[in-house]
Order: sequence, then structure tokens, then C-alpha cells
Amino acid sequence: MAERYDIIVIGTGPGGYVCAIKAAQLGLKTAVVEKNSTLGGTCLNIGCIPSKALLHASEMFAEAEHALPTLGVDVGKPKLNLEKMMAHKDATVKSNVDGVAFLMKKNKIDVFTGTGKVLGEGHVAIIDDKGDTVEVQTTNIVIATGSDVADIPGVDLTIDEKVVVSSTGALELSSVPKHLVVVGGGVIGLELGSVWARLGSKVTVVEYLDTILGPMDGDVSKQFQRMLTKQGLTFKLGAKVTGVEATGKGVAKGAKVTYEPVKGGDAATIDADVVLVATGRKPFTNGLGLEKAGVVLDEHGRVKIDEHFHTSIPGVYAIGDVVAGPMLAHKAEDEGVAVAEIIAGQAGHVNYGVIPGVVYTQPEIASVGKTEEELKAEGVAYKVGKFPFSANGRARAMLQPNGFAKVLADKTTDKVLGVHIVGFGAGEMIHEAAVLMEFGGSAEDLGRTCHAHPTMSEAVKEAALGAFLKPIHL
Ligand code: NAI
Repeated sequence: MAERYDIIVIGTGPGGYVCAIKAAQLGLKTAVVEKNSTLGGTCLNIGCIPSKALLHASEMFAEAEHALPTLGVDVGKPKLNLEKMMAHKDATVKSNVDGVAFLMKKNKIDVFTGTGKVLGEGHVAIIDDKGDTVEVQTTNIVIATGSDVADIPGVDLTIDEKVVVSSTGALELSSVPKHLVVVGGGVIGLELGSVWARLGSKVTVVEYLDTILGPMDGDVSKQFQRMLTKQGLTFKLGAKVTGVEATGKGVAKGAKVTYEPVKGGDAATIDADVVLVATGRKPFTNGLGLEKAGVVLDEHGRVKIDEHFHTSIPGVYAIGDVVAGPMLAHKAEDEGVAVAEIIAGQAGHVNYGVIPGVVYTQPEIASVGKTEEELKAEGVAYKVGKFPFSANGRARAMLQPNGFAKVLADKTTDKVLGVHIVGFGAGEMIHEAAVLMEFGGSAEDLGRTCHAHPTMSEAVKEAALGAFLKPIHL
């Protein structure tokens, strides 16, 4: 039997590995358990990091053709070397997962490779791929096993990761599909749909709701849909996919997608070379033995926790995609830090009201706090300040005039309640709003904060000025 740990973290995605590092930094004897051969989980191996590598590379490809000539840089028509692009993605993944392995070593965290199983309070089994089991004693267990691809409800689906793919297969296609049909107009569908559209695919997005990016601010999703339409994506909204069926053989392999209007009407079909299923993700608890151990799940299969991340059995905690809340790497990271602090006897806390969300398309979408729709539904009286990037000097200089910054502030107190940005670099700019909101700042605070000129961020300042009084440059 191995030695006793203070904390064992099962799963090494951003939630798990960050939790382990924080725990080790706080002086706890820490181990992680990971079933994959590399650390980092979905985010680093088959999610955020590889998709950002392809998003960036495909943006450069599109820019070389569409933006560089206008800037006086004539490079001729760019030629796609998909193999090299994929090699860049793979190298990016490798350097990131190696980085996590290095951080484990640096912080003296033991790494067990195998599937972790909760045997009960203070007891974890690790089963390797040969079926050999090691049992380890620990005072605390943190479940950070993340999520997996969700099916399409009511559809008999076989994801072969070649023709019918999840995000994993969509990051590994060996050629550019002529027609990519994306089921689900959420974050994954639009990020990966836009990658392949830039590389030459015809892309059709079939979405159940009447808008793309469901929970985003209405203004944002409307403008974003117009932008993506300009980039060549086609949308079928209010359309429920009821069937995905493989067709053809050999090189003629493809799939047929059947959908019907949500409001009622005749079904229609679309032929695709590749279908990307992006209808959400579900918590991953396979093999953990939670039922037997007595860990209670909720009605969505997520591990039930209290406000201190404690599950139904003492000394067992859970964080990240496997519990309720937005399935975002940074939410999991913050929960990882908080639970490590709680276990170490400190006051760990996550402010769920200030978790930024970013869609890494071109342009990016970034958001923090409440949307207009949420404020209306809650009956909150609010003010809106909006500033277009077309009126921002830096944006014009960089040929990035599309989009806007929008600040929502309480009508009486001027406290900023939400900030939404559509535009180049939105994912970086959103953080000044997040910091402001953490400190309960007002639109006036933001509008009176000196911003360097010329920067895209001045549009955020101007939107804040618009919410509390008037923008200068409009
Ligand atoms: P999602 O929940 O964002 O979007 C799924 C979409 O599929 C919804 O709009 C839904 O209405 C639609 N849908 C469901 N069933 C359908 C049907 N039968 N026919 C047509 N449409 C249907 O899920 P997605 O994009 O798969 O992402 C999964 C999770 O991963 C999300 O929680 C997301 O936040 C997270 N993620 C975040 C990223 C980021 O922050 N940049 C990047 C990638 C994923």
C-alpha cells in the first residue's frame, strides 16, 4: 500500500492540475490521478489549446488573402499546407502538456496513471490499462473528471471521428471537407465551423434556437451572426436535427443530416462530407464508482456539491465541468484554487457573478456579468453605453472596424452589471471589465480611468462614458 496523502485529485484538466498545484503550494502532500497518457485533460489535449492553434493559423491564412493586400503587403494567393498547420497544433499541445508535467514535478506532486475510483472516505483505487489496481489512502479527494461530448437528444448517433465528428475529430481532419454541417450553433460549433470555413469549407450551421450563442447578449448574437454570414457561414435557425446518417463508401463517404422546424413543418435533409456534432457536453463520471461510494449526483448527472465544493460524503469534493455551472476551463481553475484553500483551512471562494466568457472566433466575442435579457427578466433598471470599433482609430488602422463594446450599468447606482464586446482582441479587453466588476466599480470609474491612446480598449472606456454620460468620439 502506498503512503497516505493529504489530497488526491482525480483528473488533471485545468480544474484538477491547478487544484493540485495550489494544494502543494499550501504545503499539502498531493497526488493526481490521470487516465490519459498526458496531463491537461480535454482543454489542453483536445479542446481549448489545439482549437486556439487552428483558429490562429486559419485566421493568418484568411488574412494573407483578404487583409494583407490592403495593407500593401502583396504575398500572392496563400496555399494551404494542412499537414504543417496540424503539426503546429500538435506541437502547441505537446509543449502545454509537457508544461503541466513539469509543474507537477516542480511542486513535488505524485502522478498516478490510471482510472481513479472512489472507494469511500479517504480511499482511492487506481486501475491501470492492464487492469492492475493500486489503492491509496488520503485525507481528502477532489473529483475533477470534467466532461465528455453529449449526444443529440433522441438521435441514434455514431461518432466515428472521421465523417461524423465531435470537436476531437474536427481538430484532426486530414483534408478540408467540401461541405461541413455543424449541428449546434454554440461555442464549439462556431469556433470550429469558422476554422474550416476559413480553410475553404462550405459551412452550414443547424441550430435549435432562433439565435446563435444561446445565452449571450441578444445584440451580440445578432451582430455576430451577420459577421459570420459575411464570412460565408450559412445558418438554419429554429431547426431541430432529428437524424445523422452515414452515406456512401470509400472516397464517397459522407452523411445526411435531417432536421425539422422547431415550430412545426416538414423535415428537410442536407448532404455533408463531414458533420460536426456540437450540441453540448455532459459531466464525465465513468469508472469513478460514485454510486457505490455513496456520492450523490443531480438530475443532470453532475456531482452534487454544497457551497464549499463538498459532496455527500466527508472528505470528498468536486469541481469543474463535473459539477454545476458554466463548462469553462477558467471556472474550473478558480474552483480548484478555492477547494485547495478550503482543504488547507483557508476561506476559498469563487465569484460566479464575474466569470468572463470568450468565443475565440474572428472577431472575438467576450462577455462578463449580466446580459440585457437577464436584466430585463430580473426587472433591474439599467443604462446602456455602446461604442462601435468603426469609431476607434486603432481599430481602423488595423483593419478591424467591426463590432462594438457595450456597458450595462445600474440606472440608479451606476454600478457596472455587464460588459459585452464583439471585436478583435475582445478576449483580452474583457478583463478590465472583470477587475472593475470584482471591485464593484461604476461606469463612471471605468469612463474616467485613463486609457492609453491609440488602443482598442478605448472603445470600452467610451462605452462606459456612454453609460454614465456621453462618449467623446461619437
Ligand atoms: P453549447 O451548449 O454552447 O451549444 C450547443 C448548441 O446546440 C445549443 O445552442 C443548442 O440549442 C444546440 N442544439 C442542441 N440540440 C440540437 C439539435 N437537435 N438540433 C440543433 N441544435 C441543437 O455547446 P458546445 O458548443 O457543444 O460547447 C460545449 C461546452 O463547452 C459549452 O459549455 C461551452 O461553453 C464549452 N466551450 C467553451 C469554449 C470557450 O469558452 N471558448 C470553447 C469550447 C467549448
